[in-house]
Amino acid sequence: MVQIAPSILSADFANLKTEIMRLEEAGADLIHLDVMDGSFVPNLTFGAPVIKAVRPYTRLPFDVHLMVRHPETMLADFAAAGADIITVHAEAVTHLDKALDTIRSLGCKAGVSLNPATPEDVLEYVLDKLDLVLVMSVNPGFGGQSFIESTLKKIARIREMAAGREISIEVDGGINPMTAAEAVAAGADILVAGTAVFAGGDYARNISALR
Ligand code: DX5
Ligand code: ZN
Repeated sequence: MVQIAPSILSADFANLKTEIMRLEEAGADLIHLDVMDGSFVPNLTFGAPVIKAVRPYTRLPFDVHLMVRHPETMLADFAAAGADIITVHAEAVTHLDKALDTIRSLGCKAGVSLNPATPEDVLEYVLDKLDLVLVMSVNPGFGGQSFIESTLKKIARIREMAAGREISIEVDGGINPMTAAEAVAAGADILVAGTAVFAGGDYARNISALR
């Protein structure tokens, strides 16, 4: 079963509450929240207070993607704000093993994200501490970029590494009905999509097209 996680990076930020309610109604499985710090990635979005403010308006799990340097210092804030999954970037954290332990100890699912050029080897010694791997299929920072094809090989390799474990593979960036099919064939089971969900305004139709 493939799950669709709309990224609210493409939502109308002036109406986040209604956007999130509309996504639930349209059949989204998770809400993907892109937290950017203007340093790890060249863009700045929102943090834990905004996530906390919109948390009461949906029952869908909150999938928090931290594109920030030193996320270790903020994990407790995001858990308290209502995150269900917290994903840190392997490139942004010094003690990955410890960060994953911390996320689970806060009662959240633990994710690791890899930029397009980061090899999957960094996952090898933390496989037992992982609930999810978020494979970036664009360089993080902005919506609306094109899917990087070399990502498919990485997804397939991670699927092999994760065999026998309950690890979700989520793919993020440039997902449309065509790249969605390729990513799922390679082994992804959660698809993040911003542009493809919000384009034209018919969220339900866009979500079923991705499914
Ligand atoms: C990119 C973000 C993505 C982004 C995807 O840095 O992590 O979640 O919103 O946007 P699209 O689907 O437009 O590529
Ligand atoms: Zn994301």
